Amino acid sequence: MKVCIVGTGYVGLVSAACFAEMGNDVRCVDVNPEVVATLRAGKVHIYEPGLETLVQRNYADGRLTFTTNLAEGLAGAQFAFITVGTPSRDDGSCDLCFVEEVARQIGRHMQAPLIVVDKSTVPVGTADRVRSLIAEELASRGADIAFDVVSNPEFLKEGDAVSDFMKPDRVIVGTDSERTAEKLKELYAPFARSRDKLIVMSIRSAEMTKYAANCMLATKISFINEIAGICEKVGADVRDVRVGIGSDHRIGYHFIYPGVGYGGSCFPKDVKALIHTAHDADFKPELLEAVESVNARQKRSMAKRIAAYFEPQGGVAGKTLALWGLAFKANTDDMREAASLSVIEELTALGMRVRAYDPVAADNARRLLEGNDLVEIVGDQYAACEGAQALLVITEWNQFRNPDFDRVKASLTAPILFDGRNLYAPRNMAEAGFAYFCVGRKDVV
Ligand code: UDX
Repeated sequence: MKVCIVGTGYVGLVSAACFAEMGNDVRCVDVNPEVVATLRAGKVHIYEPGLETLVQRNYADGRLTFTTNLAEGLAGAQFAFITVGTPSRDDGSCDLCFVEEVARQIGRHMQAPLIVVDKSTVPVGTADRVRSLIAEELASRGADIAFDVVSNPEFLKEGDAVSDFMKPDRVIVGTDSERTAEKLKELYAPFARSRDKLIVMSIRSAEMTKYAANCMLATKISFINEIAGICEKVGADVRDVRVGIGSDHRIGYHFIYPGVGYGGSCFPKDVKALIHTAHDADFKPELLEAVESVNARQKRSMAKRIAAYFEPQGGVAGKTLALWGLAFKANTDDMREAASLSVIEELTALGMRVRAYDPVAADNARRLLEGNDLVEIVGDQYAACEGAQALLVITEWNQFRNPDFDRVKASLTAPILFDGRNLYAPRNMAEAGFAYFCVGRKDVV
């Protein structure tokens, strides 16, 4: 089948490469000539395990091509996927300017019947808007070409995006046309082999499903972080509590790890956007507002504990914190809404120096932290500890799971370890001679 993908970010490029891998003819369109040049040179401008190999192979075989020209991308295509960014506005609402511009451009350039697929995360009602923008453009050039608009939200996790696309839990198709649903079923057949994996519903329900899924997951995280906060006060250990509740199959063990709050490109933005949608619809989203405020508190919790720890020693001003991890989670270079940024902001505002290390997010972090003279980003996890007063681990990269603690201890001025991801066993840390602080457990010094 012939597919045009508009926007080569995480979602667009992963979808394009996976569709091409299944033998489809995929044309990617991006407005940024540098991105297109990079992709044509066989390089991938984003960090996503497994993606570069897939892109290179399909590009070499001619099933995957890249252009800045939408008309060229649309020529002969049966599907046009809209996979451009939908950033948050200051008021938390979803900014649709890129989606709307693509819709207009599609209306201007399409020459043959087309199924337009909204894959970007967009508020309920956007497919109707996309439909009317395309119709307006067609009318203004006097063209009468049939098209349909479908909602097909993505559920890709950064770091696992390729395998999530190849083996999805489900594929959601929002459409009011049986014929269009059949076409999408055909396109997705290699991925959703079992028929009940492809769920067809109304367009608005599909748009809502994406937000509901991400808000449910964010709620789980804020819930366990709230339980962790109470555990810290009452002397319980949230790690035991997690296992205790997870053994009830109605709750389950997954996605209830306490930590430094959720970050990334989806949860913060999508929770805000659904809150906004609810208010617009005259509905007060009390639970979602609490999910968001618990997360904001959690993102700052480690900074607060560090500041409180050093309070009796004259505060954190002039002291140095070693920071392991900058990305919002492991296996990504994505710094969007990363908890590391909140911690750095809080502690450097108090005059603390931060010496940080991240295996892949260092360049992105440098750009974001430019101008903050109290932050230094180094190229080695042990170098980050040299002469620092304490270590904070904030991203769960595998290489931090079993480090050389003797080396860490020898590098720090005192063996103090704050663990925002509960990577280590408190007893082992005590035996290794560390003052150890983790999430959801009373401080033991
Ligand atoms: C998420 C959704 O999982 C995915 O389905 C959707 O399409 C996009 O948003 P992603 O943002 O890549 O994916 O990351 P995810 O692995 O879900 O983690 C999100 C955040 O929650 C991270 O900050 C992570 O550290 C945090 N998290 C996750 C926890 O704090 N505890 C957990 O148990 C799980």
